[in-house]
This record gives sequence, structure tokens and C-alpha cells, in this order.
Amino acid sequence: MKIKKAIFPVGGLGTRFLPATKSMPKEMLPIVDKPLIQYAVEEAANAGIDQFIFVTSRGKSAIENHFDHSFELENNLLSKGKRQTLKTAQEMLKIPGSFAYVRQQEPAGLGHAVWCARHLIGDEPVAIMLADDLIYGGNTIKEMIANYNSGNMLAVMDVDKKDVSSYGVISPGNLIDNNITEILGLVEKPSTENAPSNMAVVGRYIIEPAVFDVLEQQNRGASNEIQLTDAIASRIGSSNCMGYKFSEERFDCGSKLGFIQANIRFSIERPEMKQNLKSWLEREIVSKN
Ligand code: UTP
Repeated sequence: MKIKKAIFPVGGLGTRFLPATKSMPKEMLPIVDKPLIQYAVEEAANAGIDQFIFVTSRGKSAIENHFDHSFELENNLLSKGKRQTLKTAQEMLKIPGSFAYVRQQEPAGLGHAVWCARHLIGDEPVAIMLADDLIYGGNTIKEMIANYNSGNMLAVMDVDKKDVSSYGVISPGNLIDNNITEILGLVEKPSTENAPSNMAVVGRYIIEPAVFDVLEQQNRGASNEIQLTDAIASRIGSSNCMGYKFSEERFDCGSKLGFIQANIRFSIERPEMKQNLKSWLEREIVSKN
């Protein structure tokens, strides 16, 4: 099935990254030299998605500017003949009308953010991409779309039992094949004792239109927020709900540790940095600690 639209919820406050995120969107934090949101948009584009819908909030205008022309910068680079740098500054420009922005007026949760985009979605499944879940390789949503038939599909991975309370956690059913498991239940941020498994949801989803109808009526759940997982959970039994066990490496860039790890991982793959960074890490970190 073709999926042409993706929603990028970027309305959150990013409180775990204060003070960096006081006036700058968390999704603009760079991994090496590229903001998190650009990796997510590239992953979506790589999957054939050509309509990019951002759910923003106050203080997030840097995201809109990032995906637009910067005439002063471009003219300056052009006049200096810096063609390669100019290309980098322009690489995220898509054909006019590809990007749409809606405002979430209060950070009432991921489910609420997704619901805010309802008028831009027709009777079609849509991808949801959380930029702070950074996937190294950038093929996960493409693989999910290739395996999607109907209903809801969520990217899932095993996490340490002690960490389950930070995630939506699934109750897995039958294995459909090596990568796909049926989901029998779904609970947001369970305690370690109450978690149905240690298989957690990460920020790649394909949702059916009926989820928007559920969100319309939905009350607040865990953390007093309107949770997307609760809406998807309520559809279990009415439509397919599948977990896609993705194989690419994922970094939780909403946390400081994940963000630093991602920066090291992505830098070490850059030919111009690889050798120097490796020797520095060995010298400064490994041998001194
Ligand atoms: P997070 O819970 O990781 O982001 O939500 P947060 O709330 O911004 O960060 P902390 O916990 O305070 O540090 C995952 C994604 O959902 C978006 C966030 O912007 C992030 O990309 N989100 C979350 C919204 O768009 N609106 C919300 O109300 C909540």
C-alpha cells in the first residue's frame, strides 16, 4: 500500500534538554551537522512519502525556516562561489506545497498532537515519525510501509525491563514472520511489575484513519497527556495491530545519553572525522577512565 503523508509531531517542550531547549526546538538539535528533524524527513522521503505535516507549537519557527530558502545565506554563498556549501543549504527544499504546518496550542500529549493534524489527512493511513527517535540507516519506515496491509503498525524493540516505564509496551501475540508480531495489548508507561513484556514502541507508526475518530473522544492517560498508544490500543480487536521488529540501530535523542551516543556513532562514520575521533576517544576516554 502506498503511503504519501507523514506527520511529524514537534509540539513538545523538550524539558529533558533544558536549558538548551528553552528557546530552541529539541528537534533542531544537531547530530554532527544536521538537525534531528532533517534525518526524520529524509527517512520519510526515502520511503516515498512526499507530504510532510508538522505539528508545531510556539517557539518552533526555526523548523519552518529550516525547510525554506534562506536568501541572504544563499546569495552570499553564491557570490563567493561556494557551490557545494550552497547545495547543502538547499538540500531540504522540496517542491512547493510539500510541507504543511499546524499548531498544537498546548502540549497535551502525542495523541493530541497527531489529532491536531486531522484535517490534513483524508481516508488514508498515515505515517507518524518522532524525530527524537533517530534511526541509523534510515530505512525503518520504508520497511514498515513495505510490510503494511491495513490497521496499525508500530515499530517495536526489546528494552531493559528497568526502562519499560519510559515507553509504550506491547503484549505480543503470534509471530507473523521473523520481523512482525501481532499486538494483543498496549500500555503506555507501565511500571516494571505491570509491564506485559519488555517490547517497547519507538517513534515510527503507521496509523489507520479510525485512530483520529478515537482521539476525538479520548481522555488523558499516563502523564496526564492524551496518548497515541491508548487510541491505537482501543482499535485492537477491530483492526489489525502489528509490531514491526526493526533491525536498524535506534538512538533516543530525547535523552542526553542517547543524543551523545548518536553524535559519536554518526561522526565515526564520517570519513573526514573517523580517524581523529577514534584516536581521541581511545586516548581521552578509554585509557583515562
Ligand atoms: P517526548 O515526550 O519525547 O517529547 O515526545 P517532549 O515532551 O518534547 O520532551 P520532554 O519529555 O519534555 O523532554 C515525543 C515527541 O512527541 C512530540 C515531541 O515534540 C516529540 O517529538 N510531542 C509531545 C508533541 O508534539 N506534543 C506533545 O504534546 C507532546
